[in-house]
Amino acid sequence: MDKKTELNWEELGFDYIKTDYRYLSYWNNGSWDEGLLTKDNVLKLGEASPCLHYGQQCFEGLKAYQTKNGDIQFFRIDQNAKRMQDSCKRLLMPIIPEETFINACIDVVKANLAYIPPYGTGGSLYLRPMMIGIGNSIAVKPASEYLFTVFCMPVGAYFKGGMTPVNFMVSDYDRAASNGTGQQKVGGNYAASMIAHEIAEKKGFADCIYLDPITHTKIEEVGAANFFGITKDNRFITPNSNSILPSITKYSLLHLAEHFLKMETSEEDVYIDELDLFAEAGACGTAAVITPIGGIFHHHRLHVFYSETEVGPVTKKLYETLTAIQLGDLAGPSGWIYKI
Ligand SMILES: Cc1ncc(COP(=O)(O)O)c(C=O)c1O
Repeated sequence: MDKKTELNWEELGFDYIKTDYRYLSYWNNGSWDEGLLTKDNVLKLGEASPCLHYGQQCFEGLKAYQTKNGDIQFFRIDQNAKRMQDSCKRLLMPIIPEETFINACIDVVKANLAYIPPYGTGGSLYLRPMMIGIGNSIAVKPASEYLFTVFCMPVGAYFKGGMTPVNFMVSDYDRAASNGTGQQKVGGNYAASMIAHEIAEKKGFADCIYLDPITHTKIEEVGAANFFGITKDNRFITPNSNSILPSITKYSLLHLAEHFLKMETSEEDVYIDELDLFAEAGACGTAAVITPIGGIFHHHRLHVFYSETEVGPVTKKLYETLTAIQLGDLAGPSGWIYKI
């Protein structure tokens, strides 16, 4: 049966859905094998695999979009490939060549065409490349074997009824240490952040804001997304730190703010006590693209930016520009779109 008719694209959230094929490639004795597509979504691992005990693993997240004329395309996939290489280097894992990474993602998309949400539904095909250290070894040292895999699933529009601002609270917990692994997309950062997320959610906030781990005075990340603020004099500011993930969405917004919206931009310290500088604020990342920040709760007080219910004009313009490029409705900077 044609899955395009089975799935209700408008109802999709961000949940695991088993699609038909995933890519697997094993590294052994210094090289990667040829890789293959398989229907089996269960991995069989040695019980002493270092990924299970010592967290030697890393991953990526990116989307394939269907355009108005039916083409399928990736957005800045080369940046995901490069960031994964950086994560691999930090965790002493073998590098996955950029070409292998991109070709594996293409193979997975082509094998799961029936799951790509049609243009206009707000959905996309989310791809999850990951690498894990396998092979039985109980000592704390790099694994002797590795598995690189890419699976995918259709995901829906993040905001179903249009973008709405949400509130965040500042956490006392740190997500990652300075000079730790905050700049890499590795599982340990996310395991460490779950408690802060849970506390924020229980208190009625969308998620938490992490401050810098050394002084606890500067904004770092907003949940699993980067922070940006639009100053009252129309500058685009985003934090500069060695413990936040270099968000591909954030670097894209920096470029669009400067070249499309003709704004001044900078990566600099954003002090939690100086939120008055900003007229608007948002969180950015692949999953939500942009989440407008209504307010930030800190020291018993909610600081509201533009509004708790309305999206600010610059945030809206940035969102429209970026999504138009991702969906092929607007020409982006050279090299940003990779047609499949
Ligand atoms: C901790 C964290 N920060 C930021 C981001 C946003 O990064 P990107 O825009 O590359 O998706 C993500 C999502 O990947 C993330 O997990």
